[in-house]
Amino acid sequence: MERRQEWIGLTLCLFTFLTDPGFTSSIIEGPRNLTVLAGSAAQFNCTVSEGWDVLIWLFNGNPRLTLLSDGKTYISPRYSQKGYSTDGRFTSELTISDVQLNDSGQIKCSIQNEEDDMYAFLTVQVNGSLNIKNSNFTVRKNQTIEVTCEALGWAPAPQISWTGSNILINNSMYITDQSQGLNGLYDEESTLTLRPLANVTVTCLAAIDALSKPQNASATVTVYEPPPKSSYQKEVQRNVSERETNRNLEKTGGRGYENNGYSPEEDMSAEKMSGDSTFPKMSSSVYRPKQGLDMSPAPKVPYNRDNEVLPSRTTAYPTKSRQIRNVTHV
Ligand SMILES: *[C@@H]1O[C@H](CO)[C@@H](O)[C@H](O)[C@H]1NC(C)=O
Ligand SMILES: *[C@@H]1O[C@H](CO)[C@@H](O)[C@H](O)[C@H]1NC(C)=O
Ligand SMILES: *[C@@H]1O[C@H](CO)[C@@H](O)[C@H](O)[C@H]1NC(C)=O
Ligand SMILES: *[C@@H]1O[C@H](CO)[C@@H](O)[C@H](O)[C@H]1NC(C)=O
Ligand SMILES: *[C@@H]1O[C@H](CO)[C@@H](O)[C@H](O)[C@H]1NC(C)=O
Ligand SMILES: *[C@@H]1O[C@H](CO)[C@@H](O)[C@H](O)[C@H]1NC(C)=O
Ligand SMILES: *[C@@H]1O[C@H](CO)[C@@H](O)[C@H](O)[C@H]1NC(C)=O
Ligand SMILES: *[C@@H]1O[C@H](CO)[C@@H](O)[C@H](O)[C@H]1NC(C)=O
Repeated sequence: MERRQEWIGLTLCLFTFLTDPGFTSSIIEGPRNLTVLAGSAAQFNCTVSEGWDVLIWLFNGNPRLTLLSDGKTYISPRYSQKGYSTDGRFTSELTISDVQLNDSGQIKCSIQNEEDDMYAFLTVQVNGSLNIKNSNFTVRKNQTIEVTCEALGWAPAPQISWTGSNILINNSMYITDQSQGLNGLYDEESTLTLRPLANVTVTCLAAIDALSKPQNASATVTVYEPPPKSSYQKEVQRNVSERETNRNLEKTGGRGYENNGYSPEEDMSAEKMSGDSTFPKMSSSVYRPKQGLDMSPAPKVPYNRDNEVLPSRTTAYPTKSRQIRNVTHV
């Protein structure tokens, strides 16, 4: 009992010392959450009503700047404050300069009235580097290429996205790996796979909250047409576009493979298919609408090698046709 009275007495004494002449001041508005880049300055406001004696800024519970109402201040390195008095209110604007990752934490404003403490969180992020290693590609039309973008030294790991000619690319077309170094910073590598049908500029974007605009890196892809065809081939090609007989479909099928860089073996199997009169119908009815291509049954042939597996072909094919559509968009 006696001990408790002592404690109360001490507390009252302290309150009197700190808040005299009256226990009237309160925090009107405390600091707000803030996310900034490493190396920049972080600022927080704390607005209190008249009658305060002491205002203390704490980082993770440790006092860093103390301000007395008579104007005296006690400061830690990199911490400073500016005071504004208006209409019976006082605002202390705290500035922490050159913030680093380990300055992330709780920032509290206290006027030595526990119930009235107000706090917010400072989040410091690091703007790393972003690079596409191979930034210029020259490829055959519809050739599969991989573009790799590297983000180094970020905190947190940035959100990576890609655009092709300024249109967002579906994230099913790229894979992003992430790792964290000993310094707490993150590296990421994102690999985009595409089969461009026309020239395109692809851009890799890295976003973190502290950056108002994502960082970006671009690569240009120059697409060239396959080598010119012989006059005989041209003749057959024209025949196909004029009258779509099964036989012509098969012939262009074989050449289509060559043009697209397919192996002779596949070409051979296309030849073997020529005896099957049911396949071209299936080819045109099943695959053509999905692909949205006028002509070029060639690539479809392998998928019809075994007639009975058509259902699984149809499940396998949409992946490719989706990629084609995506590429066409970019
Ligand atoms: C401030 O940040 C903390 C920690 O990130 C979060 O829990 C809280 O909801 C945020 N407050 C506001 C008002 O955004
Ligand atoms: C703090 O308050 C002052 C005075 O009202 C204002 O000029 C300043 O922009 C505020 N700073 C922040 C970080 O909100
Ligand atoms: C915080 O990080 C900075 C720079 O990385 C370093 O110089 C400083 O010693 C660190 N401070 C603490 C308390 O760990
Ligand atoms: C982020 O880093 C990039 C690359 O170093 C630089 O171009 C950009 O200006 C930086 N952004 C900010 C806001 O500092
Ligand atoms: C990419 O190609 C363009 C035009 O062909 C050229 O101006 C540029 O210097 C090249 N960039 C690199 C990094 O090779
Ligand atoms: C592109 O190549 C794929 C096979 O890699 C083929 O299925 C597709 O039909 C081709 N598209 C065009 C437009 O040539
Ligand atoms: C992206 O691709 C996935 C499957 O690959 C698909 O389900 C999704 O609808 C596509 N999203 C957009 C926005 O096209
Ligand atoms: C890439 O960043 C630069 C510099 O911030 C900007 O001017 C440009 O518009 C950005 N490009 C894209 C595609 O976001």
